[in-house]
Amino acid sequence: MPKIAFDGQKYLAEEGESVLDCLIRHDVSVNYSCRAGVCQSCMMMMKEGTPSEASQKGLKDALKAQNYFLMCSYVAEEDIVITRPGRDFQSMETDVLALDRLNADVLRVRLARPENYSYFPGQFLNLQNPDGVERSYSLASLPDDDDFLELHVRHISGGKVSGWIHSVLKVTNRVSISPATGDCFYTPGQPGQNLLLIGTGTGLAPLYGILRDALRQDHPGEIHLYHGSSTTEGLYLIDELKALDIAHSNVHYHPCVSQGDPPQGVTAGRADQKALEETGKLGGWRIYLCGREDMVKSARQKAFLAGASLKDIYADPFVPAVD
Ligand code: FES
Repeated sequence: MPKIAFDGQKYLAEEGESVLDCLIRHDVSVNYSCRAGVCQSCMMMMKEGTPSEASQKGLKDALKAQNYFLMCSYVAEEDIVITRPGRDFQSMETDVLALDRLNADVLRVRLARPENYSYFPGQFLNLQNPDGVERSYSLASLPDDDDFLELHVRHISGGKVSGWIHSVLKVTNRVSISPATGDCFYTPGQPGQNLLLIGTGTGLAPLYGILRDALRQDHPGEIHLYHGSSTTEGLYLIDELKALDIAHSNVHYHPCVSQGDPPQGVTAGRADQKALEETGKLGGWRIYLCGREDMVKSARQKAFLAGASLKDIYADPFVPAVD
């Protein structure tokens, strides 16, 4: 059985067991959240051994080159030596500037932007509660316009971090955040390329950042944003998005609700289904999908079948934490 050397100890991995599962089984305290290779909370550096392609999926090239990998996506087949991320990638503390309710379940959290904190709108960071539990939240703010970091946090029943944010966290408290990561963000790309943004719930946070970043960079193509919720009360930032729709001839905002009779201006039906029905052929389009994992997976497949190239589909699935 391969040995995993970490923090001066060696742990025997069982056959087929991920490095993360092995350390958890041995009661080693390490960061993790999704256990699915998405949130990047479990990133470590491999000092001896070679990370697999799967264990580096989604990491920036600079991190891959330094042998960073995701423990939940790596099964050791030989002895390895791993260490925690270096100082450059460790969490940092910052102040809570504002907490505002966007609807009954969603809180807008604005944090002071630490000096030299770089990010693209739509990337995500990990926020830690005082017990050291981390969850990922996407960035809705714009680094060139906003001197704060904006997150949209939905209250999850029993959620260790969202429950703490909604019930305990106060303005002026300090919180611990990670550097921003992820590849779901706007790049100028091909001039005139149409953009299709589909999000459910707080999947609007990255899309709101991406939409405004595209406008800030004078994106000339059409931009369609479909935001879905089960009920009208679950929609938010409606006035802000309507204002962008009115101010920019290439922006088209489509709020959708999947249950009940929607009010005027809101479409009945699931956002992903409506978006794919109404746009038809997607050859040459760039697609952003943010929200529930099942929606993202199914919309990704349908967008591909409608002609979108896989390299033009950016996805940010929200994977629920397992505890
Ligand atoms: S990426 Fe490993 S726990 Fe989320």
